[in-house]
Amino acid sequence: MKAIHFDTPGDPDVLRWVDRPDPSLAPGEVLIAVRSAGVNRADVLQRRGLYPPPPGASSTLGLEAAGHVLAIASPTAASDPLPAWLKVGQPVMALLAGGGYAEQVAVPVGQVLPIPNSVSLEEAGALPEVFLTAFLNLFHVGGLPFGSGQSARVLIHGGASGVGTAAIQLCHAAGLITYCTVGDAARAQRCLKLGAHAAWNYRETDFHAQVLQATRGAGVDLILDCIGAEYLDRNLRSLALDGRLVLIGLMGGSQANLDLALLLRRRIQMLGSTLRALPTARKAALCADFATRALPLFERGALRPIVDQTFPMAAAAFAHRALDSAHFGKLVLVR
Ligand SMILES: NC(=O)c1ccc[n+]([C@@H]2O[C@H](COP(=O)([O-])OP(=O)(O)OC[C@H]3O[C@@H](n4cnc5c(N)ncnc54)[C@H](OP(=O)(O)O)[C@@H]3O)[C@@H](O)[C@H]2O)c1
Repeated sequence: MKAIHFDTPGDPDVLRWVDRPDPSLAPGEVLIAVRSAGVNRADVLQRRGLYPPPPGASSTLGLEAAGHVLAIASPTAASDPLPAWLKVGQPVMALLAGGGYAEQVAVPVGQVLPIPNSVSLEEAGALPEVFLTAFLNLFHVGGLPFGSGQSARVLIHGGASGVGTAAIQLCHAAGLITYCTVGDAARAQRCLKLGAHAAWNYRETDFHAQVLQATRGAGVDLILDCIGAEYLDRNLRSLALDGRLVLIGLMGGSQANLDLALLLRRRIQMLGSTLRALPTARKAALCADFATRALPLFERGALRPIVDQTFPMAAAAFAHRALDSAHFGKLVLVR
């Protein structure tokens, strides 16, 4: 098969569309003929040699893909059972530990999801990684209420990112009060349209002051943070009593001074989380919960992947360059 490959880490030009060995299909796995694959910040870090794939994962880039089922291996006692809906030839999308930038990818059956009718095959390649990251960290790790009628206040950093656009929509669907940070006024407007109650330009305003004003000094119950060190102090000061800081990225660095008194006084919890490194069984449980609680919301049009641009898969280098410039939502490779 053809796949995007690089021999030495480096800038986007190291990415080449070349012949690679077909993926082998292990028991309990599904082989997918890839039609679309989402581009994620993690792919850029991996290309630069800063984020190696977890043990056993494909070294090919790509954490999510959509396409048609080519083959289904028999399940084992240890693997997840085959769902009744899964058939050869069917369109599906999948959460991957790697391997999406390719003509074919093999994935454990528990990470394969049906594509909602409202979502195209192209859009579906941009759905699993960011929506499952947001769903995991808001509702499983972060413990926010989902559809229980209770509310909470949430701050999402990077509202215009792939993860941010998914998180805003999920919070809106869950009835939560949502604020976000973005890099310009146009992207702020688009976040409001997705359901954010306020979107603050991090280049012009201090989100900590804005949070205190918006919540009348109370603070937010959860912050979904992809910035890390640069925002740590202001994040802690923006949380309410019993608030949770869920750290999913380190775009603003990993080393910071921490005032532990803030944690103590406000009973704050700090939680770190990476979806890619979770054991297969936990990914399968997450996908099953997402399929039950979130996929119906796509069918109803309450959730949708936000695709900014598509690129031919063979031209992945252009997509990687585009990820480093202003975009709203997802960049997708198609073939
Ligand atoms: N832990 C996990 O399991 C996991 C999984 C997936 C993703 N992630 C992380 O989630 C983050 C988003 O990933 P992605 O692929 O969706 O990214 P992306 O689409 O490339 O977006 C990056 C975003 O970061 C925003 N940003 C940059 N500097 C900022 C700042 N100082 N304050 C607020 N926002 C800022 C940018 O906003 P503007 O363009 O508006 O300036 C942009 O929207 C990354 O850090 C990624 O590593 C973690």
